Amino acid sequence: MAKLRGVVLAGGLGKRLAPLTKITNKHLLPVYNLPMVYYPIQILVEAGIRDILIVTGGNNAGDFLRLLGNGHAFGLKHLDYTYQEGEGGIAAALGLAEEFAEGQKIVVILGDNVIERSIKTYVQKFSKQRKGARILVKDVKDPERFGVVSFKGNKIKAIREKPKRPESSYVVTGIYMYDSKVFDIIKTLKPSGRGELEITDVNNAYLKKNQLYYDILDGWWTDAGTFESLLRANNLIAQKVRGRKG
Ligand code: G1P
Repeated sequence: MAKLRGVVLAGGLGKRLAPLTKITNKHLLPVYNLPMVYYPIQILVEAGIRDILIVTGGNNAGDFLRLLGNGHAFGLKHLDYTYQEGEGGIAAALGLAEEFAEGQKIVVILGDNVIERSIKTYVQKFSKQRKGARILVKDVKDPERFGVVSFKGNKIKAIREKPKRPESSYVVTGIYMYDSKVFDIIKTLKPSGRGELEITDVNNAYLKKNQLYYDILDGWWTDAGTFESLLRANNLIAQKVRGRKG
């Protein structure tokens, strides 16, 4: 079986963190002792993925190359890069990975997602999955900030992006696994109210085909795109690192 490829989405303007993001990219900001983008790369590498594409954009794209180089800090021989012009949303950024993917299945991770444990078992399940998509969901206190999953029994009924009245406390984390059909789906998307191509619409397209599978992510998870969540990410990582030393 062909190897899975990994995609880290690290573009966007990081407006919710202004003025921290006025002169640099959100994913280059520190989370405890490492730049934010290190964490999603580490997660993919730990899960056994060696072919990784970094999608970035904006004025600071060159800094990613200087920081990450060929990925030696992660035990890699090579990293791929691509550049997102403008602010098209997560699904638009993912669309840029089509050539890189070369028809293989991909594991996608948002550059501002930080987690406690390994995703290896979920990735292994996905690599055995014949087709479709697989998402990782998590029970949180503030679901209205995310893509919210509603269930019928233990099956996903729908996913709504940032609903005012969430139907459950389960949200879609920024870790997504897709077969090669994802690029055809992205080409059919229309911009949402916030003017972006939404990853939630991609997931709902798989749901409609009855090809959306999920696991409940083990261990803590947070994004780091707001002041509160960035602080939380820093504290959680600090605790984890200190725990390892102690
Ligand atoms: C994005 C997705 C959302 C998902 C979240 C995870 O939100 O649109 O569905 O739950 O990432 O971090 P955004 O960071 O664009 O607000």
